[in-house]
Amino acid sequence: MATVTIKDKSFETYLSEETIQSRIRFIAGQINSDYKDGKPFFIAILNGSFMFAADLFKHLTIDAEICFIKLASYEGMKSTGNVVTSIGLDEDLFGKEVIIVEDIVDTGKTLHQFLPKLVHQQPKSLKIASLLHKSAATVYPVKPDYVGFDIPDKFVVGYGLDYDGLGRNLKEIYQLI
Ligand code: IMP
Ligand code: MG
Repeated sequence: MATVTIKDKSFETYLSEETIQSRIRFIAGQINSDYKDGKPFFIAILNGSFMFAADLFKHLTIDAEICFIKLASYEGMKSTGNVVTSIGLDEDLFGKEVIIVEDIVDTGKTLHQFLPKLVHQQPKSLKIASLLHKSAATVYPVKPDYVGFDIPDKFVVGYGLDYDGLGRNLKEIYQLI
């Protein structure tokens, strides 16, 4: 089993390139069939989802659009805590079949805070495709509709996911040792 070191931490191979790619082909197949009469609008959340979004998109045979957005959270003026805003979402989502593309749903906090802003625009439908889901760690009511892999609550890097900015370029996904 291959190991990599990023900064002060060691990681071991967890999901191989072929395992990831074959699962993505499967999910693309599900989406091709679920949206065969539609034209989904993908919203990929940067930075982590860029590889997943690109590989997933290559395997779509239906008409589909995609945009990439970045989420920024800041402390709200009120005591309710963080407020999440998006940068790069210029499109009006009214009546659209939206699919959010995420690298990982962990606690679910990010999407739980962000989804109401999309719902507000009244899309026809709103689904979530996440490559990874730490379902045991998810405490907010967020449930991805398309999941690549349900993984244990351990830190992972690679295939878009980073440790302190590094490791995104790895073709495989590695788990903290
Ligand atoms: P959530 O808001 O707790 O669901 O976390 C979502 C974000 O945390 C993801 O989009 C990732 O950017 C980051 N994250 C959570 N777990 C990991 C991990 O194991 N490796 C790298 N990033 C992670
Ligand atoms: Mg992310």
